[in-house]
Amino acid sequence: MNARITATAQSTPDNVMTNFDLEKLVDTSDEWIQSRTGIVQRHVVTDDEASSDISTRIAQSLIEKRGISSNEIDLIIVGTVTPDHFTPSTAALVQKNINAKNAWGFDLSAACSGFIYGLETGANFISSGKYSKVMVIGVDTMTSILDFQDRDTCVIFGDGGGGVILEPTGDNLGIVDSILHMDGSGGKYLIVPGGGSRIPSTKESVKNRLHYIKQDGKTVFKYAVRGMSEVSKQLLDRNQLTGDDIALFIPHQANKRIIDVAAERCGISEDKVLINIDKYGNTTAGTIPIALNEANNNNQIKNGDYVLLSAFGAGFTWGSMLIKWGSE
Ligand code: UT7
Repeated sequence: MNARITATAQSTPDNVMTNFDLEKLVDTSDEWIQSRTGIVQRHVVTDDEASSDISTRIAQSLIEKRGISSNEIDLIIVGTVTPDHFTPSTAALVQKNINAKNAWGFDLSAACSGFIYGLETGANFISSGKYSKVMVIGVDTMTSILDFQDRDTCVIFGDGGGGVILEPTGDNLGIVDSILHMDGSGGKYLIVPGGGSRIPSTKESVKNRLHYIKQDGKTVFKYAVRGMSEVSKQLLDRNQLTGDDIALFIPHQANKRIIDVAAERCGISEDKVLINIDKYGNTTAGTIPIALNEANNNNQIKNGDYVLLSAFGAGFTWGSMLIKWGSE
């Protein structure tokens, strides 16, 4: 039994921060950001907004679009590294907010691969035959862990997310294959050092800015290019497909230069690559579901099309997923 996507949705905060706004905060320029990353602007939360608020809007939209009651949702999985709290989970807050009386759920921490990891997890719950409506959300409020004095990180991230509903299908549609990886030896290159059990919050940890995300951008760039290219090629090969067979490539939006190289190495032509990093920046677990929803809304995917998703993120975590589109 495969899992297929029967609804997509996205939500980004109304507030927009441009590269010119960032020029006022750190030593950077619109020219540098655009040429090195492809980013023009990003959406950012207001002070009273958090990941569960964005997720709740996504969940409400999914239910509405699918035309179902929240009571029909069996399971809620939220991929995020910026939950509202350590506990309760963001999934529990969403469950309460949409009054999904029959759902259980959990948060899943895989950074930029959070949505793909979530889809893999949700699809397996569907395949088990025990659950028939699984909501998978990828969301991040990156500004809550961004140091607006650190130009290496603050220019690339944004806030937002998206999600899907997964349901069973007897046809050979939906998520047909995936390859996921993890290599913890890369953990130190993209990390929020403080706030967990290793370095609990203290005056000292705050003073030393340990609650913000730190990145060795060059190293992450190198591993991201290699990881996304290799795993995507491997997935295509084992399904006897080439880049030409892919109708749409939806990569994690971390840097346009990473995307361009990965697509080229997989033999996927530029016109089949979804790029929206210019509008949203890197929303971590949010990038792929936002892009998927945009593609779905714009009728860029037709029934029977092959869609390839690929992500790379902190951990390191990475992977690719092949979907044969079949939605109502
Ligand atoms: O989604 C999770 C995974 N994350 C990623 O995949 C991110 C991967 N990394 C990247 O996307 C890129 O490495 C960055 C966008 C973070 C940085 O781009 P880069 O081309 O690797 O720049 P760099 O670190 O090599 O820096 C080049 C120059 C340096 O100046 P010098 O030494 O050549 O004089 C930096 O100091 O650019 C300087 N620089 C900046 N200048 C203006 C670094 N950041 C900035 C900035 N504005 N924000």
